[in-house]
Amino acid sequence: MTRTAVYPGSFDPVTNGHLDIIIRAAGMFDRLIIGVLVNSSKKPVFSTEERVELLEKAIPKIPGCQIEVMSFEGLLADFVTLVGATTIVKGLRAVSDFEYEFQMALANRKINHRLDTIFLMTSERYMYLSSSIVREIGKYGGDISDFIPKAVKDDVIKKLWKGNK
Ligand code: COA
Repeated sequence: MTRTAVYPGSFDPVTNGHLDIIIRAAGMFDRLIIGVLVNSSKKPVFSTEERVELLEKAIPKIPGCQIEVMSFEGLLADFVTLVGATTIVKGLRAVSDFEYEFQMALANRKINHRLDTIFLMTSERYMYLSSSIVREIGKYGGDISDFIPKAVKDDVIKKLWKGNK
């Protein structure tokens, strides 16, 4: 049986924190779908296509796991079912993440009782990291090279810098 999981998010843009979770989750599943939310209420800076492309560029080949990047609209629970998965992977950074994530995990399970959410603790060096921090520092020309995957550094810097002009 193929073990499939979905790692959902806005990925606006992908960070080293996301990549850390992706690489670790890939070691646990045969197939990992990265689900990029299209119409986030957060009004993304990067278009859906750009967010998908950046992820595809950033994710290395991982033996034993087939990783696919897909965008989705609507309910996460429906998307997970559509791709034939029953597991959602999420990263937890701090206690402050917990309450919201707990609520989401229960709500998703209420929508579809077969769904389970597993949480991976972020690596401590990424505790403070978020996409908005990257966007904020990048917008003003600060150094974001420690925060985002090397493969997408130039693309992200160019877009954030241009967006501020
Ligand atoms: N490392 C670094 N940053 C991380 C991280 C990690 N391990 N884990 C999360 N983050 C960051 C994200 O980049 C994001 O940053 P931002 O707020 O600056 O953009 C922030 O932490 C919050 O992450 P998360 O809670 O995962 O939000 P998200 O916007 O990335 O994704 C969805 C949210 C897509 C999972 C959620 O909105 C969803 O499922 N939507 C679909 C509709 C639905 O089904 N809703 C639920 C109904 S019950």
